[in-house]
Amino acid sequence: MTTDRRWQMVDEGWGRRAVDFATLSEPSNCREYVAVHQRLGVSAGDRLVDVACGSGLAIELARVRGAECAGIDASHRLVAVARDRNPHADIRVGDMHALPWEDASFDVATSFRGIWGTTPAAISEIRRVLLPGGRIGLTVWGHLKTSPGVWALAPFRMADSVRLENQAAMVSLGRPGKGEDLLARSGFVDIERVDVPFVWEFADPETFARALASTGPAYEAIQNVGEAVFMEAATEQARQLVRDGLPLRAQIAVVGYLARKSEQQRKETP
Ligand SMILES: C[S@@+](CC[C@H](N)C(=O)[O-])C[C@H]1O[C@@H](n2cnc3c(N)ncnc32)[C@H](O)[C@@H]1O
Repeated sequence: MTTDRRWQMVDEGWGRRAVDFATLSEPSNCREYVAVHQRLGVSAGDRLVDVACGSGLAIELARVRGAECAGIDASHRLVAVARDRNPHADIRVGDMHALPWEDASFDVATSFRGIWGTTPAAISEIRRVLLPGGRIGLTVWGHLKTSPGVWALAPFRMADSVRLENQAAMVSLGRPGKGEDLLARSGFVDIERVDVPFVWEFADPETFARALASTGPAYEAIQNVGEAVFMEAATEQARQLVRDGLPLRAQIAVVGYLARKSEQQRKETP
């Protein structure tokens, strides 16, 4: 399947439990959203686009800071939630490789674990829709093996080997130098790599398994081993980490890349 058709399959995995994702998984990402908005200085009057916006919590938090927001996601069921949360924002269903906005439409672009090593061309599209000098903030997984909360991602490893290879290629963008190179090649300057706070918290093992099952990579695992096996393995994984009187807590390394679109006109390669 060609890249430009593949995005239409994304909703199968990411959208099938959109309400669970929006209420059980996405809220834990709030630390990441707040930290990146703060580093980018998002404020009143900024026109901001969030690429791969999921169910729109990051957009809601950018609006709290006064930004005028747009967003795009391939999953129409996640976009339905994002629009419900942000009725006046311009939120589209579509592909991050073909953004449906004019050149130089935005002051700020964000993408929270939406652009990966497998989707580098999305960076050029973001550059196109940013004004000269416009700011970008991207996040990707950092060094997972040394993250105390890596246990929370372990059930994804039940996917088949082809999917696991693809997941490894995706997360390669977090390696030192990778994101910096991509941004520099795509016409960005003042590139910074920062650590971004990221913690998933869950009330109990069953809620953890249900939250995890709402995500795209979980769907890849479920296709391989079946729903019942996935849920049992995820619940069992979390049972080992239960602490009396405290939530389940998974702190995971997330890398942020911050940069600015260069003011110079760029020679496009044919
Ligand atoms: C890891 S989730 C991140 C969602 C959201 N940014 C968040 O912080 O929770 C990845 C998102 O990318 C979206 N996605 C995957 N491929 C896409 C594409 N080609 N174009 C737009 N969105 C895409 C998925 O639907 C999903 O919402």
